[in-house]
Amino acid sequence: MKLYYSPASPYVRKVLACAITRGLDSRIQLHPTNPQQSPHDLVADNPTSKVPCLVTDDGLSLWDSPVICEVLDSLGDAPVLFPASGAARWRALKFQAMGDGICDAAVPCRGELLRPKEAARDAAIARYKAAMSRTVDALEADPPHRHVDIGSIAVACALGYLDFRFAVDPWRPGHPKLAAWFEDFSKNPGIAQTVPKE
Ligand code: BEZ
Repeated sequence: MKLYYSPASPYVRKVLACAITRGLDSRIQLHPTNPQQSPHDLVADNPTSKVPCLVTDDGLSLWDSPVICEVLDSLGDAPVLFPASGAARWRALKFQAMGDGICDAAVPCRGELLRPKEAARDAAIARYKAAMSRTVDALEADPPHRHVDIGSIAVACALGYLDFRFAVDPWRPGHPKLAAWFEDFSKNPGIAQTVPKE
């Protein structure tokens, strides 16, 4: 399988963490890609020009990260990361949505921070930061469990992205339970082996 990949993307990290956790990473060829440049090969496989995008051995192109993670969960025979049903499934999906939600604010927020300063930009940044902050507060009130599933992986990738791109705005103060959870959870191989880099 081919994965369009960018080492800084928290969504790519989530996919790779799932693949490593389920022992599938050796079946994935990483294809470094800058989605901002809308390269021809990525756009041909994913018209939204976003990473991650997975092309299966059958030639099926798939995005976004929740879809790819669920496809990876259907392969091999390792324990699944998406609980099949019931309360465990809804909780895992909710935590995935919280982790992805932090990234859905943090990634465009970083884009805004790199633009010249003006009032509209500052209003957008404030809105993104408020969403990130509220979600981190909600996770402190009810942190993920230690079990590795799609929800805990998504939250860890989101917090890792905040450390990577928002180090000047640290999230740990006021969130001791979440910080302790993250420190412990980060020892899992899927998280330890996918720390973001430029
Ligand atoms: C980043 O550089 O922060 C980034 C790159 C690709 C996707 C998302 C984030």
